[in-house]
Amino acid sequence: MINVGVFGYGTVGSGVVEVLSENSDVIARKVGDKVCVKSILDLRDFPGDPFEDRIVHDVNLVVNDPEISIICETMGGVGAAYKFTVMALEAGKSVCTSNKELVAMHGPELLKLAEDHNCSYKFEASVGGGIPILRPLQNAITADRILKLTGIVNGTTNYMLTKMTNEAADFATVLKEAQEMGYAELHPEADTEGLDAGRKLAILSSLVYGKTVKSEDIPTEGISGVSLRDIKYAEALGRKIKLLAKYEDSDNGAYACVAPFMVAKENPLYNVDDVFNAILVRGNMLGDAMFYGKGAGKLPTASAVCSDVVECACNLGKNVPCDWKDEDVKFTGFSKSVKRFFVRTAHPFARDSVLNTFEGAKLIDAGFADELGFVTAPMSEEEFKNAVTLFGKEVNFIRFED
Ligand code: HSE
Repeated sequence: MINVGVFGYGTVGSGVVEVLSENSDVIARKVGDKVCVKSILDLRDFPGDPFEDRIVHDVNLVVNDPEISIICETMGGVGAAYKFTVMALEAGKSVCTSNKELVAMHGPELLKLAEDHNCSYKFEASVGGGIPILRPLQNAITADRILKLTGIVNGTTNYMLTKMTNEAADFATVLKEAQEMGYAELHPEADTEGLDAGRKLAILSSLVYGKTVKSEDIPTEGISGVSLRDIKYAEALGRKIKLLAKYEDSDNGAYACVAPFMVAKENPLYNVDDVFNAILVRGNMLGDAMFYGKGAGKLPTASAVCSDVVECACNLGKNVPCDWKDEDVKFTGFSKSVKRFFVRTAHPFARDSVLNTFEGAKLIDAGFADELGFVTAPMSEEEFKNAVTLFGKEVNFIRFED
Protein backbone atom coordinates (compact mmCIF):
# COMPACT_ATOMS: atom_id res chain seq x y z
CA MET A 1 0.00 0.00 0.00
CA ILE A 2 1.20 3.52 -0.82
CA ASN A 3 0.24 6.15 1.77
CA VAL A 4 -0.51 9.75 0.96
CA GLY A 5 -0.60 12.81 3.22
CA VAL A 6 -2.74 15.82 2.34
CA PHE A 7 -1.78 19.36 3.43
CA GLY A 8 -4.93 21.51 3.61
CA TYR A 9 -8.48 20.11 3.73
CA GLY A 10 -10.18 22.93 1.84
CA THR A 11 -11.87 22.85 -1.57
CA VAL A 12 -9.08 21.10 -3.49
CA GLY A 13 -7.72 19.03 -0.57
CA SER A 14 -11.13 17.51 0.15
CA GLY A 15 -11.46 16.86 -3.60
CA VAL A 16 -8.15 14.97 -3.59
CA VAL A 17 -9.36 12.77 -0.73
CA GLU A 18 -12.61 12.15 -2.62
CA VAL A 19 -10.86 11.26 -5.90
CA LEU A 20 -8.37 8.90 -4.21
CA SER A 21 -11.13 7.05 -2.36
CA GLU A 22 -13.85 7.14 -5.04
CA ASN A 23 -11.51 6.02 -7.84
CA SER A 24 -9.28 3.78 -5.72
CA ASP A 25 -9.78 0.79 -8.04
CA VAL A 26 -8.78 2.69 -11.22
CA ILE A 27 -5.80 4.23 -9.44
CA ALA A 28 -4.68 0.86 -8.00
CA ARG A 29 -4.78 -0.63 -11.51
CA LYS A 30 -2.55 2.13 -12.93
CA VAL A 31 -0.11 2.04 -10.00
CA GLY A 32 -0.13 -1.71 -9.33
CA ASP A 33 -0.74 -1.05 -5.64
CA LYS A 34 -3.39 0.58 -3.43
CA VAL A 35 -3.02 4.33 -2.81
CA CYS A 36 -4.61 5.51 0.45
CA VAL A 37 -4.89 8.78 2.37
CA LYS A 38 -3.25 8.26 5.75
CA SER A 39 -3.12 11.80 7.21
CA ILE A 40 -4.75 15.14 6.50
CA LEU A 41 -3.07 18.23 7.91
CA ASP A 42 -5.32 21.15 8.74
CA LEU A 43 -5.69 23.71 11.52
CA ARG A 44 -9.37 22.87 11.84
CA ASP A 45 -11.25 19.80 13.08
CA PHE A 46 -13.95 18.25 10.92
CA PRO A 47 -16.44 16.57 13.24
CA GLY A 48 -18.68 14.13 11.37
CA ASP A 49 -16.45 14.04 8.27
CA PRO A 50 -15.82 10.48 7.01
CA PHE A 51 -12.07 11.16 7.20
CA GLU A 52 -12.25 12.84 10.62
CA ASP A 53 -9.93 10.22 12.11
CA ARG A 54 -7.09 11.11 9.68
CA ILE A 55 -6.98 14.83 10.60
CA VAL A 56 -3.74 15.94 12.25
CA HIS A 57 -2.58 19.41 13.31
CA ASP A 58 1.19 18.89 13.44
CA VAL A 59 3.11 18.82 10.16
CA ASN A 60 5.85 16.70 11.77
CA LEU A 61 3.42 13.82 12.16
CA VAL A 62 3.16 13.72 8.36
CA VAL A 63 6.69 14.54 7.18
CA ASN A 64 8.28 12.21 9.74
CA ASP A 65 5.90 9.33 9.06
CA PRO A 66 7.99 6.69 7.26
CA GLU A 67 4.82 5.08 5.90
CA ILE A 68 3.86 8.21 3.92
CA SER A 69 5.66 8.58 0.59
CA ILE A 70 3.57 11.20 -1.27
CA ILE A 71 2.15 14.54 -0.11
CA CYS A 72 -0.58 16.56 -1.82
CA GLU A 73 -0.05 20.23 -1.00
CA THR A 74 -3.41 21.94 -1.42
CA MET A 75 -2.99 24.70 1.16
CA GLY A 76 -2.24 27.58 -1.19
CA GLY A 77 -0.10 30.60 -0.42
CA VAL A 78 3.67 30.86 -0.16
CA GLY A 79 4.19 30.91 3.63
CA ALA A 80 3.47 27.64 5.43
CA ALA A 81 2.95 25.86 2.10
CA TYR A 82 6.55 26.65 1.09
CA LYS A 83 7.99 25.64 4.46
CA PHE A 84 6.03 22.37 4.60
CA THR A 85 6.88 21.51 0.98
CA VAL A 86 10.59 21.94 1.72
CA MET A 87 10.23 19.72 4.81
CA ALA A 88 8.43 17.03 2.81
CA LEU A 89 10.93 17.02 -0.08
CA GLU A 90 13.88 16.98 2.33
CA ALA A 91 12.28 13.92 3.93
CA GLY A 92 12.27 12.29 0.46
CA LYS A 93 8.49 12.52 -0.01
CA SER A 94 7.20 13.52 -3.43
CA VAL A 95 4.91 16.56 -3.43
CA CYS A 96 1.98 17.07 -5.83
CA THR A 97 0.43 20.52 -5.76
CA SER A 98 -2.21 22.82 -7.20
CA ASN A 99 -0.42 25.86 -5.72
CA LYS A 100 0.45 28.01 -8.75
CA GLU A 101 1.66 30.90 -6.60
CA LEU A 102 4.27 28.68 -4.95
CA VAL A 103 5.29 27.00 -8.23
CA ALA A 104 5.63 30.37 -10.01
CA MET A 105 7.73 31.76 -7.16
CA HIS A 106 9.87 28.78 -6.12
CA GLY A 107 9.42 26.15 -8.87
CA PRO A 108 13.06 25.52 -9.90
CA GLU A 109 14.33 25.55 -6.32
CA LEU A 110 11.75 22.94 -5.25
CA LEU A 111 12.43 20.85 -8.36
CA LYS A 112 16.15 20.81 -7.48
CA LEU A 113 15.36 19.86 -3.90
CA ALA A 114 13.23 16.97 -5.14
CA GLU A 115 16.01 15.83 -7.47
CA ASP A 116 18.55 15.93 -4.61
CA HIS A 117 16.29 13.74 -2.46
CA ASN A 118 15.23 11.18 -5.09
CA CYS A 119 11.63 12.25 -5.08
CA SER A 120 9.48 14.48 -7.32
CA TYR A 121 7.77 17.85 -7.32
CA LYS A 122 4.69 17.80 -9.59
CA PHE A 123 2.24 20.60 -10.37
CA GLU A 124 -0.11 19.62 -13.21
CA ALA A 125 -3.07 21.15 -11.33
CA SER A 126 -1.37 24.54 -11.06
CA VAL A 127 -2.37 25.52 -14.62
CA GLY A 128 -5.72 24.94 -16.29
CA GLY A 129 -7.35 23.13 -13.32
CA GLY A 130 -8.32 19.69 -14.60
CA ILE A 131 -6.84 20.11 -18.10
CA PRO A 132 -3.72 18.07 -18.79
CA ILE A 133 -1.43 20.76 -20.23
CA LEU A 134 1.91 20.65 -18.40
CA ARG A 135 2.45 16.93 -19.03
CA PRO A 136 1.68 17.28 -22.78
CA LEU A 137 4.01 20.30 -23.00
CA GLN A 138 6.82 18.35 -21.34
CA ASN A 139 6.26 14.86 -22.68
CA ALA A 140 4.21 15.07 -25.86
CA ILE A 141 4.95 18.25 -27.82
CA THR A 142 8.68 17.65 -27.51
CA ALA A 143 9.84 17.92 -31.13
CA ASP A 144 8.45 21.39 -31.80
CA ARG A 145 9.52 24.93 -31.25
CA ILE A 146 6.59 26.59 -29.47
CA LEU A 147 5.83 29.77 -31.39
CA LYS A 148 2.76 30.88 -29.54
CA LEU A 149 0.68 29.92 -26.56
CA THR A 150 -2.63 31.66 -25.90
CA GLY A 151 -4.70 30.67 -22.92
CA ILE A 152 -7.84 31.34 -21.00
CA VAL A 153 -6.33 30.15 -17.74
CA ASN A 154 -8.52 31.71 -15.07
CA GLY A 155 -11.90 30.07 -14.51
CA THR A 156 -13.28 32.77 -12.23
CA THR A 157 -12.85 35.64 -14.70
CA ASN A 158 -14.04 33.55 -17.63
CA TYR A 159 -17.17 32.64 -15.66
CA MET A 160 -17.69 36.32 -14.80
CA LEU A 161 -17.17 37.60 -18.35
CA THR A 162 -19.51 34.92 -19.72
CA LYS A 163 -22.28 35.97 -17.30
CA MET A 164 -21.67 39.66 -18.01
CA THR A 165 -21.93 38.94 -21.74
CA ASN A 166 -24.92 36.59 -21.72
CA GLU A 167 -26.98 38.08 -18.89
CA ALA A 168 -25.63 41.64 -18.56
CA ALA A 169 -24.94 40.65 -14.94
CA ASP A 170 -22.96 43.08 -12.82
CA PHE A 171 -19.37 42.51 -11.76
CA ALA A 172 -19.91 42.21 -7.98
CA THR A 173 -22.81 39.75 -8.33
CA VAL A 174 -20.97 37.39 -10.68
CA LEU A 175 -17.82 37.52 -8.58
CA LYS A 176 -19.87 36.43 -5.57
CA GLU A 177 -21.32 33.54 -7.58
CA ALA A 178 -17.83 32.44 -8.68
CA GLN A 179 -16.75 32.50 -5.04
CA GLU A 180 -19.75 30.40 -4.02
CA MET A 181 -18.89 27.82 -6.69
CA GLY A 182 -15.40 27.44 -5.19
CA TYR A 183 -13.64 28.89 -8.26
CA ALA A 184 -12.13 32.07 -6.84
CA GLU A 185 -8.92 32.57 -4.91
CA LEU A 186 -9.01 33.38 -1.19
CA HIS A 187 -8.30 37.00 -2.20
CA PRO A 188 -10.35 37.26 -5.42
CA GLU A 189 -8.35 40.29 -6.64
CA ALA A 190 -5.78 37.67 -7.66
CA ASP A 191 -8.36 36.50 -10.21
CA THR A 192 -9.90 39.81 -11.22
CA GLU A 193 -6.58 41.71 -11.49
CA GLY A 194 -5.00 38.99 -13.62
CA LEU A 195 -2.34 37.91 -11.10
CA ASP A 196 -3.46 34.28 -11.02
CA ALA A 197 -3.38 34.14 -14.83
CA GLY A 198 0.07 35.80 -14.73
CA ARG A 199 1.41 33.10 -12.41
CA LYS A 200 0.02 30.36 -14.65
CA LEU A 201 1.55 32.01 -17.72
CA ALA A 202 4.88 32.27 -15.89
CA ILE A 203 4.74 28.48 -15.29
CA LEU A 204 3.75 27.73 -18.89
CA SER A 205 6.39 29.95 -20.44
CA SER A 206 9.07 28.68 -18.03
CA LEU A 207 8.31 25.16 -19.24
CA VAL A 208 8.45 26.34 -22.87
CA TYR A 209 11.88 27.91 -22.23
CA GLY A 210 13.29 25.50 -19.64
CA LYS A 211 14.27 28.60 -17.64
CA THR A 212 12.46 30.89 -15.22
CA VAL A 213 10.01 33.51 -16.45
CA LYS A 214 8.98 35.55 -13.40
CA SER A 215 5.33 36.50 -13.09
CA GLU A 216 6.31 39.99 -11.90
CA ASP A 217 8.06 40.56 -15.26
CA ILE A 218 4.85 39.82 -17.20
CA PRO A 219 2.79 42.93 -18.09
CA THR A 220 -0.55 42.15 -16.43
CA GLU A 221 -3.99 43.75 -16.60
CA GLY A 222 -7.16 42.30 -15.10
CA ILE A 223 -10.86 42.60 -15.88
CA SER A 224 -11.92 45.10 -13.22
CA GLY A 225 -11.93 47.88 -15.86
CA VAL A 226 -14.15 45.91 -18.27
CA SER A 227 -17.66 47.38 -18.34
CA LEU A 228 -20.97 46.29 -19.83
CA ARG A 229 -20.39 49.02 -22.45
CA ASP A 230 -17.16 47.32 -23.55
CA ILE A 231 -19.14 44.11 -23.87
CA LYS A 232 -21.74 45.86 -26.05
CA TYR A 233 -18.98 47.16 -28.33
CA ALA A 234 -17.47 43.67 -28.51
CA GLU A 235 -20.88 42.33 -29.59
CA ALA A 236 -21.16 45.05 -32.24
CA LEU A 237 -17.77 43.91 -33.52
CA GLY A 238 -18.78 40.19 -33.51
CA ARG A 239 -16.27 39.49 -30.73
CA LYS A 240 -16.18 38.42 -27.08
CA ILE A 241 -14.01 39.81 -24.30
CA LYS A 242 -11.75 37.18 -22.70
CA LEU A 243 -8.88 37.49 -20.25
CA LEU A 244 -5.98 36.02 -22.23
CA ALA A 245 -2.57 34.88 -21.07
CA LYS A 246 -0.30 35.11 -24.11
CA TYR A 247 3.20 34.06 -24.91
CA GLU A 248 4.56 34.69 -28.39
CA ASP A 249 7.98 34.29 -29.94
CA SER A 250 7.78 36.89 -32.73
CA ASP A 251 10.33 38.56 -35.03
CA ASN A 252 10.39 41.51 -32.63
CA GLY A 253 11.42 39.29 -29.72
CA ALA A 254 9.43 37.07 -27.39
CA TYR A 255 6.86 38.49 -25.01
CA ALA A 256 4.31 37.36 -22.47
CA CYS A 257 1.32 39.35 -21.26
CA VAL A 258 -2.02 39.01 -19.50
CA ALA A 259 -4.87 41.33 -20.45
CA PRO A 260 -8.50 41.39 -21.57
CA PHE A 261 -8.75 40.93 -25.35
CA MET A 262 -11.62 41.16 -27.85
CA VAL A 263 -11.44 37.70 -29.40
CA ALA A 264 -12.67 37.13 -32.96
CA LYS A 265 -15.45 34.62 -33.68
CA GLU A 266 -13.10 32.54 -35.86
CA ASN A 267 -10.67 32.01 -32.96
CA PRO A 268 -11.36 28.72 -31.09
CA LEU A 269 -11.03 30.59 -27.77
CA TYR A 270 -14.18 32.59 -28.64
CA ASN A 271 -16.35 29.63 -27.67
CA VAL A 272 -14.60 28.87 -24.37
CA ASP A 273 -17.18 30.01 -21.83
CA ASP A 274 -18.08 29.73 -18.13
CA VAL A 275 -15.48 28.11 -15.91
CA PHE A 276 -13.85 26.38 -18.85
CA ASN A 277 -10.21 27.09 -19.67
CA ALA A 278 -8.36 26.41 -22.89
CA ILE A 279 -4.77 26.69 -23.99
CA LEU A 280 -4.05 27.05 -27.68
CA VAL A 281 -0.50 25.96 -28.47
CA ARG A 282 1.19 26.64 -31.80
CA GLY A 283 4.22 24.49 -32.62
CA ASN A 284 6.38 25.21 -35.67
CA MET A 285 5.75 21.68 -36.98
CA LEU A 286 2.54 20.70 -35.21
CA GLY A 287 0.55 23.82 -36.06
CA ASP A 288 -2.26 24.50 -33.59
CA ALA A 289 -3.43 22.19 -30.80
CA MET A 290 -5.99 23.20 -28.20
CA PHE A 291 -6.34 21.81 -24.67
CA TYR A 292 -9.79 22.41 -23.20
CA GLY A 293 -11.56 21.57 -19.95
CA LYS A 294 -12.71 22.77 -16.55
CA GLY A 295 -10.19 25.27 -15.26
CA ALA A 296 -11.25 25.51 -11.63
CA GLY A 297 -13.39 23.77 -9.05
CA LYS A 298 -12.95 21.00 -6.52
CA LEU A 299 -13.00 17.76 -8.50
CA PRO A 300 -11.41 18.87 -11.81
CA THR A 301 -8.44 20.37 -9.93
CA ALA A 302 -8.23 17.37 -7.58
CA SER A 303 -8.26 15.05 -10.59
CA ALA A 304 -5.10 16.76 -11.90
CA VAL A 305 -3.40 16.57 -8.47
CA CYS A 306 -4.22 12.86 -8.31
CA SER A 307 -2.83 12.25 -11.80
CA ASP A 308 0.48 13.50 -10.36
CA VAL A 309 0.04 11.18 -7.37
CA VAL A 310 -0.27 8.26 -9.81
CA GLU A 311 2.93 9.33 -11.60
CA CYS A 312 4.83 9.67 -8.32
CA ALA A 313 3.47 6.34 -7.08
CA CYS A 314 4.76 4.69 -10.26
CA ASN A 315 8.20 6.26 -9.66
CA LEU A 316 8.74 5.82 -5.92
CA GLY A 317 12.36 6.34 -4.85
CA LYS A 318 13.12 8.09 -8.16
CA ASN A 319 13.01 11.64 -9.41
CA VAL A 320 10.63 12.43 -12.28
CA PRO A 321 12.72 15.07 -14.09
CA CYS A 322 11.43 18.46 -15.21
CA ASP A 323 13.24 20.70 -17.70
CA TRP A 324 13.10 23.99 -15.75
CA LYS A 325 16.43 25.53 -14.73
CA ASP A 326 16.94 28.11 -12.02
CA GLU A 327 18.04 30.78 -14.49
CA ASP A 328 15.98 33.88 -15.33
CA VAL A 329 14.70 34.78 -18.80
CA LYS A 330 13.66 38.36 -19.58
CA PHE A 331 11.34 38.96 -22.53
CA THR A 332 11.86 42.17 -24.47
CA GLY A 333 9.28 42.01 -27.27
CA PHE A 334 6.08 43.36 -25.68
CA SER A 335 6.41 47.05 -26.63
CA LYS A 336 7.14 46.07 -30.25
CA SER A 337 4.31 43.51 -30.51
CA VAL A 338 1.71 44.51 -33.09
CA LYS A 339 -2.06 44.25 -32.85
CA ARG A 340 -5.25 46.27 -33.34
CA PHE A 341 -6.81 48.13 -30.42
CA PHE A 342 -10.44 48.93 -29.64
CA VAL A 343 -10.68 52.36 -28.01
CA ARG A 344 -13.51 54.38 -26.56
CA THR A 345 -13.26 57.94 -25.37
CA ALA A 346 -15.51 60.76 -24.19
CA HIS A 347 -12.90 63.36 -25.17
CA PRO A 348 -14.70 66.40 -26.73
CA PHE A 349 -12.43 66.60 -29.80
CA ALA A 350 -12.28 62.87 -30.27
CA ARG A 351 -13.59 62.45 -33.81
CA ASP A 352 -11.09 64.76 -35.54
CA SER A 353 -8.24 63.68 -33.30
CA VAL A 354 -8.93 60.02 -33.96
CA LEU A 355 -8.93 60.37 -37.70
CA ASN A 356 -5.78 62.49 -37.67
CA THR A 357 -3.84 60.46 -35.14
CA PHE A 358 -4.85 56.89 -35.93
CA GLU A 359 -4.46 56.41 -39.64
CA GLY A 360 -6.86 53.75 -40.90
CA ALA A 361 -9.00 53.78 -37.71
CA LYS A 362 -12.63 52.64 -38.07
CA LEU A 363 -15.39 54.28 -36.02
CA ILE A 364 -17.77 51.84 -34.29
CA ASP A 365 -21.37 52.52 -33.41
CA ALA A 366 -22.70 50.52 -30.48
CA GLY A 367 -25.49 53.01 -29.71
CA PHE A 368 -23.70 55.30 -27.21
CA ALA A 369 -24.04 58.96 -28.19
CA ASP A 370 -21.90 60.36 -25.37
CA GLU A 371 -18.63 58.81 -26.52
CA LEU A 372 -16.69 57.61 -29.52
CA GLY A 373 -15.61 54.02 -30.13
CA PHE A 374 -13.09 53.06 -32.78
CA VAL A 375 -10.69 50.30 -33.81
CA THR A 376 -7.13 51.13 -34.84
CA ALA A 377 -5.17 49.66 -37.72
CA PRO A 378 -2.45 47.20 -36.59
CA MET A 379 0.18 49.07 -34.55
CA SER A 380 2.76 48.30 -31.91
CA GLU A 381 2.09 48.69 -28.17
CA GLU A 382 4.65 51.48 -28.13
CA GLU A 383 3.06 53.39 -31.03
CA PHE A 384 -0.38 52.95 -29.49
CA LYS A 385 0.66 54.13 -26.02
CA ASN A 386 2.28 57.24 -27.53
CA ALA A 387 -0.73 58.06 -29.70
CA VAL A 388 -3.38 57.49 -27.08
CA THR A 389 -1.86 59.97 -24.58
CA LEU A 390 -3.68 62.59 -26.67
CA PHE A 391 -6.91 61.71 -24.86
CA GLY A 392 -5.45 61.97 -21.37
CA LYS A 393 -7.36 59.85 -18.87
CA GLU A 394 -10.61 59.90 -20.84
CA VAL A 395 -9.89 56.66 -22.62
CA ASN A 396 -10.51 52.92 -22.33
CA PHE A 397 -8.95 50.40 -24.62
CA ILE A 398 -8.99 46.63 -25.21
CA ARG A 399 -6.62 44.73 -27.50
CA PHE A 400 -7.78 42.58 -30.41
CA GLU A 401 -6.99 38.86 -30.76
CA ASP A 402 -7.79 37.55 -34.24
N1 HSE B 1 -9.02 30.91 -8.99
C1 HSE B 1 -8.52 30.02 -9.96
C2 HSE B 1 -9.35 30.17 -11.23
C3 HSE B 1 -8.59 28.60 -9.44
O1 HSE B 1 -10.43 30.75 -11.15
O2 HSE B 1 -8.91 29.74 -12.28
C4 HSE B 1 -7.93 27.58 -10.32
O3 HSE B 1 -6.55 27.81 -10.45
